[in-house]
Amino acid sequence: MKTIIEPFRIKAVEPIRLTSRAERNALLEKSGYNLFQIHAQDVTIDFLTDSGTAALSSEQWSALMRADESYAGAASFFRFERAVQSIFGFRYTLPVHQGRAAERLLFKQMVSADHIVPSNTHFDTTRANIESLGAVALDLPCAEWRTCDAGAAFSGNIDLVQLENLLNSTEYGVIPLVLLTVTNNACAGQPVSMQNVRETSRLLKRHQIPLFLDAARFAENAYLIHERDSEFSSRSIAGIAGEMFAYADGCLMSCKKDGIANIGGFIGVNELELAEKLKEEMIVTEGFPTYGGLSGRELETIAVGLNEALQEDYLRYREAAALYLHSGLQEIGVPVVSPSSLHAVYVDAAEMFPHVSAVELPGQALACELFREAGIRTCEIGTAMFGRVDEKTGATICASRELVRLALPRRVYTQSHYEYVIEAFENILKRRSHIRGLKFKTQSKRLRHFTAVYEPLDTDVSSLLNSPVVQKFCPDEPACEI
Ligand code: F0G
Repeated sequence: MKTIIEPFRIKAVEPIRLTSRAERNALLEKSGYNLFQIHAQDVTIDFLTDSGTAALSSEQWSALMRADESYAGAASFFRFERAVQSIFGFRYTLPVHQGRAAERLLFKQMVSADHIVPSNTHFDTTRANIESLGAVALDLPCAEWRTCDAGAAFSGNIDLVQLENLLNSTEYGVIPLVLLTVTNNACAGQPVSMQNVRETSRLLKRHQIPLFLDAARFAENAYLIHERDSEFSSRSIAGIAGEMFAYADGCLMSCKKDGIANIGGFIGVNELELAEKLKEEMIVTEGFPTYGGLSGRELETIAVGLNEALQEDYLRYREAAALYLHSGLQEIGVPVVSPSSLHAVYVDAAEMFPHVSAVELPGQALACELFREAGIRTCEIGTAMFGRVDEKTGATICASRELVRLALPRRVYTQSHYEYVIEAFENILKRRSHIRGLKFKTQSKRLRHFTAVYEPLDTDVSSLLNSPVVQKFCPDEPACEI
């Protein structure tokens, strides 16, 4: 059969509320045009994130019943530990309540103010955790990503030439670790090739620097290696994942993604001394090392979910769902980032609204229009999220791309939901030239997109355009004034 179906049937359903346009207009205004501030019950299709939003399987629900909630040494921890170790292979497994807790704990042990932490691209919480220690979170995305090469199979890679130059030009000790994010969420969920992981590992070994993987979407990365690299087409997805982690000294994972869990995460490391220090620290903020802020029920959910995420029929369906939305949008003329990732479809808002400049936040404008049109909640991944105001000059530093992410919760939506989203885009395209940008009314210094209040711009944007604006480019390209 050519048709790829959802490899599950539905056992419990959750009603979706349909709202009127007038209601949605009022909700937008009340939220300060910030979709993080809208109540979930007012959302029709929630593509804000694929994190913690999955539908549990009947096996996971069954596992919840056998959970052991003992404070220390619970049986659920040992099932969790076995599942994690059999997939990732690290000697020590430390559960945490979610990915950013893993980041905070690990970086507190390994990173200090004079350090640089390079990555293929840091996710926003990863960056915030590094910067909060006074260190530099340095993104080194590969050339294929920087040049928007739609034909590239692995544009989530780290730029090895830039990394090697950096290693050769910095003193020993300045780089405490290198982090590869698989898949590369901030670069439209593009995968990292096995060759890139291998070569990064080899290079770092020569410089005696540990390699860590941010494993949030490790199964999707392993699947894309299986699909796009002929060397791996006959290997199992679990085998590919195992090889990826064998090149690393440790990993951080938010199990809210490829753990198919609603909460949870872990740190995996090989070094005893580091594991001991992490355990000592986690007792202060996360909990005893056999539960790390999670209930036994959550440990059980993850133990089952990690293995479900590696099943080929599940991954094949996940790819088919993303491609259905991706090609449906492409066919009606929506500029989408290609090739599509598995966890999300990314729309290029700058290209869709060429009359809205980066400083007028075209991504946030598109996200608001999708909500206004059909109650669809998405996430801006552009200047609202990654831009900032330079404290010294007052200049607006814009992101390198203005994207909107349509993140696909695991096992939640079906084909008709995607058709509804495509129709909403069709309607927005018809009136795109009338759509205006937004400006910040209030913003915080860090992770501003969560709490910012925006204001719609009328046609006069002269005050904004007169302020000095700097477009941020990738490290090897000069910043330029626009
Ligand atoms: N690393 C990556 C690659 C992520 O995508 C995320 C979260 C984290 C770390 C942090 O994990 O949320 O469990 O603390 N990404 C979510 C998203 C929030 O919507 O992409 P967390």
